Amino acid sequence: MMKVTKPIRRTFLFLSILALMNFAFVNCGVFDPPKSSSSKDDESSCTMAPVHLRSPTTIDQVTELINALPKPLSIPCLIENLPTPLKVFAVNSNFSAQPAEGADSPRIFIINGKLVLSVVPAGIGKDLLEYGQFINSTESVKAELKFPLEEQIALSQPYDHIKSGSGTSCRFCHTSERSINGFGGEAFASSIMRPSFFQRQTSARLRTLAQNCDKANDPYRCEMLNSVFVRGRAQDADLP
Ligand code: HEC
Repeated sequence: MMKVTKPIRRTFLFLSILALMNFAFVNCGVFDPPKSSSSKDDESSCTMAPVHLRSPTTIDQVTELINALPKPLSIPCLIENLPTPLKVFAVNSNFSAQPAEGADSPRIFIINGKLVLSVVPAGIGKDLLEYGQFINSTESVKAELKFPLEEQIALSQPYDHIKSGSGTSCRFCHTSERSINGFGGEAFASSIMRPSFFQRQTSARLRTLAQNCDKANDPYRCEMLNSVFVRGRAQDADLP
């Protein structure tokens, strides 16, 4: 039998340690490539606008962002161009021009500075973006667009879309309406109506719902919930 000399024993020991370290590292994932998104829900197929356009705080800046994006443009792709984590207040309220379809398809307010965008994943208002620019603690200027958008829009379009008689169709609920200057169209300010805390739906629950959404049977609703709660990483916040 070959005599195991001291240097050979040392080399053997050294190699064993190396092998052990390698095993440990591989199994701890130290050398693993960074984990890419765990599910398809994390991946966006939307085009991103130049970064300086992606944080609109006025109605007219939303129009600039919209016009920088390819058409047709869906509401989820517009949402994905907003700064994350999104700040949201989701509410199961059905008394508005954009009613929730229930606790699992709530009306979702997305807040960016003084701008509040409202969307719903299902129901009669699902193709509408309703929004308001807060000008003080009691009044906001109102706007609305119907999606998907097929072409560029005029600065005046979000204001024109809600025109009714000498004001807007919103005034039946948002009272004390008055005409106001300094906006990209014929604009009206009216009373702010705030969502109720009692009807609030948490982002944590809606994120789980989005992750388990049945895409085959409910594609639009799933897409909307995913853009807000998964890709948008929404967190609960309050209106300004
Ligand atoms: C039937 C009543 C009703 C009508 C009509 C209505 N809203 Fe509202 N709106 C509400 C209620 C109620 C809230 C508070 C949130 C909730 O419970 O849905 C609200 C809140 C809002 C908000 C967030 C806070 C604020 O006041 O700025 C915006 C933006 C908004 N509505 C836009 C509109 C626009 C745009 C129109 C017109 C196209 C409109 N709403 C018409 C009932 C209405």
